Amino acid sequence: MGKKYRLGVVGLGEGRSIMSAALRSEKWQLVQVCDLNEQLCREREEEFSFAHWTTSYEAMLNNKEIDVIAIYTPDQLHFTHIKQALEAGKHVICTKPLLDSLQDGAQLLQLAKQTDRQLFVGQSSRFFEPMLHQRRDFEQGKHGELSVVEAHYKTDGRWFLQKDWSKQTGFSWMQNFMIHAVDLAKWYLPDVTEVTGYGFTSDNTKQYDIDVWDSMRFLMRNERGQMAQVAGDYALPTLDLTVEPSIACLLRGTKGISRAEYSNLDYYTKFSGEGKKSYNFDERRDYYFRFEGNSHHAGEYQNYIEYFAECLDNNQTALPDAREAIHTLAIMEAMTISAKHGGQPIKIADVLQQYHIVFE
Ligand SMILES: NC(=O)c1ccc[n+]([C@@H]2O[C@H](COP(=O)([O-])OP(=O)(O)OC[C@H]3O[C@@H](n4cnc5c(N)ncnc54)[C@H](O)[C@@H]3O)[C@@H](O)[C@H]2O)c1
Repeated sequence: MGKKYRLGVVGLGEGRSIMSAALRSEKWQLVQVCDLNEQLCREREEEFSFAHWTTSYEAMLNNKEIDVIAIYTPDQLHFTHIKQALEAGKHVICTKPLLDSLQDGAQLLQLAKQTDRQLFVGQSSRFFEPMLHQRRDFEQGKHGELSVVEAHYKTDGRWFLQKDWSKQTGFSWMQNFMIHAVDLAKWYLPDVTEVTGYGFTSDNTKQYDIDVWDSMRFLMRNERGQMAQVAGDYALPTLDLTVEPSIACLLRGTKGISRAEYSNLDYYTKFSGEGKKSYNFDERRDYYFRFEGNSHHAGEYQNYIEYFAECLDNNQTALPDAREAIHTLAIMEAMTISAKHGGQPIKIADVLQQYHIVFE
């Protein structure tokens, strides 16, 4: 066993999951947590019998006992909070989306380059049980060469619009929700060069005085013509999860096909020589969903902090890092431009250039 990493967490809404994960881990020690909302700090104190909290982020950054800061504040604050943490000499875990726009992308890459600290993005869906199995099968070559990836995230997320910050400029269903599907698609098609697609705003979203697309359909492709289709619906009724899982990733290749699903813990495969198989990981439900309802999914966070600790132990870059996450944001920016221009194909390279982002 490597060393134990000492963690500080800021933002105790979603940060609740990482608190739970760190407290259960043999590789992590939860040192301090932070939220501006004192009542929430007290709630977490009671929930986890963990009394080391502060309402001052600066105080937590000054805590020499902390090696790694995990950031779960609203999207619009990520850049500032990451910058402060890196400057304080901490490794950083930042929840998705890394940034709320590409505006700060070039500066963040520069910061990440200048520091010897890691910046790891908690892209949770990659770490869900069926998705982990799918990735393993993919890395073993069971799909052969991929022709098509199909990823979607469809959920009735209207509850999310109750949050104050979701009504501020910068919020979009794409940035906040669809990123899970885009990231999964890009994981399998990392060299995507061009996207095209459409978006639609239903009356259900307009009721909240927000003008963002809540239904979106996009196609991504690389130079070779391999494709990924990404779909999202966020303010409309949904079917039962067994009929239509909220997140799914389907890989279709020359030797086989697989589909990993969230949150029903199902995984389906048909690889050459194996025939059709289906797996259900329901015995892991309590590990993934530790709190009431399914909105928090701490098991994924457990998986990704264990992975991050392993990377730190072995001096390996934990992925997605800033570069990968900014590339995903550039894909989403290209999607946005495409949808605003009637589905015009948009090159990722042009978006990167527009924001002066250079990957070295
Ligand atoms: N699957 C996932 O990985 C996943 C799921 C949900 C949310 N998220 C992300 O987690 C982040 C937080 O989402 P949420 O739903 O918990 O939002 P939230 O609004 O419920 O919680 C954010 C918390 O941050 C605190 N905060 C704000 N500014 C602060 C500051 N300067 N110092 C200390 N605390 C501060 C607020 O008081 C609040 O409690 C968002 O970026 C969201 O996209 C990720």
